[in-house]
Amino acid sequence: MDINDVIISIKNLKKSFGTLSVLNGIDIEIEKGENIAVLGRSGSGKSVLIKIISGLLKPDSGTVKVLGREVDKISDAELQKLRLKIGFSFQSSALYDSMSVKQNLEFPLVRNLRNLSRKEVNAAIEEVLSDVGLSQTINQMPSELSGGQKKRIGIARTLILKPEIMLYDEPTSGLDPITSIEINKLIVQVREQYNTTAIIITHDLVCAKETADRVAMLLDGKFLMQGSFEEVFNTDNENVRTFYDYNFINAK
Ligand SMILES: Nc1ncnc2c1ncn2[C@@H]1O[C@H](COP(=O)(O)OP(=O)(O)O)[C@@H](O)[C@H]1O
Ligand SMILES: [Mg+2]
Repeated sequence: MDINDVIISIKNLKKSFGTLSVLNGIDIEIEKGENIAVLGRSGSGKSVLIKIISGLLKPDSGTVKVLGREVDKISDAELQKLRLKIGFSFQSSALYDSMSVKQNLEFPLVRNLRNLSRKEVNAAIEEVLSDVGLSQTINQMPSELSGGQKKRIGIARTLILKPEIMLYDEPTSGLDPITSIEINKLIVQVREQYNTTAIIITHDLVCAKETADRVAMLLDGKFLMQGSFEEVFNTDNENVRTFYDYNFINAK
């Protein structure tokens, strides 16, 4: 493997909040173009992990390299530049309720790429809306959108900056199964169209299976197991099995 093909490299990452140890020795390497699903029960530190990757939280120790930069060692200005390459799709779609779809999409663009013409801004909005299949919603308000549509617009809002990395935090949570399937397809399509490398945090087994090349199972602050969905799904490891059995029962 060419070293340049490693987009995210994490070694012995630890993070505690007070006496609560959340991440306790995370090791992972993610190659260019890979989609990795991170599975783990609620409170296991999945969101903390991607917040550290995107520089929103600082690690206590260990190294976290993203696109060749150590996120906690670089200057604020450099971090800001790096963060433009990372699309963070939040669990709540985090749209501005008082802004139309168009304004929501325009906001990150105008704030981050200041010298675009009106025409370029409009073209970028139209393109990204078409990519997520929601051209017709351009003048709607978030309150008029369905849960699935809001997720799509949330994703579009990060895609408009053409990120190299996508971090999806529970992209299908709160969605019905049919809408979830559509979001899974979108995640796969985004990789094709935008050449992204992605981490998909989920406890939706269908989502992990459909979107990821590899799954990593987070337990007690470490990756207990990494492998293809089938490898991890067919393991004899009791702790992994317990997670799967529990999520199976709840998916029914
Ligand atoms: N900023 C913070 N300050 C204190 N505790 C936090 C903070 N962020 C997360 N935690 C705690 O860390 C643990 C892991 O949180 P999180 O990563 O959000 O879990 P999840 O796997 O459900 O995404 C939880 O116990 C949470 O309460
Ligand atoms: Mg979370």
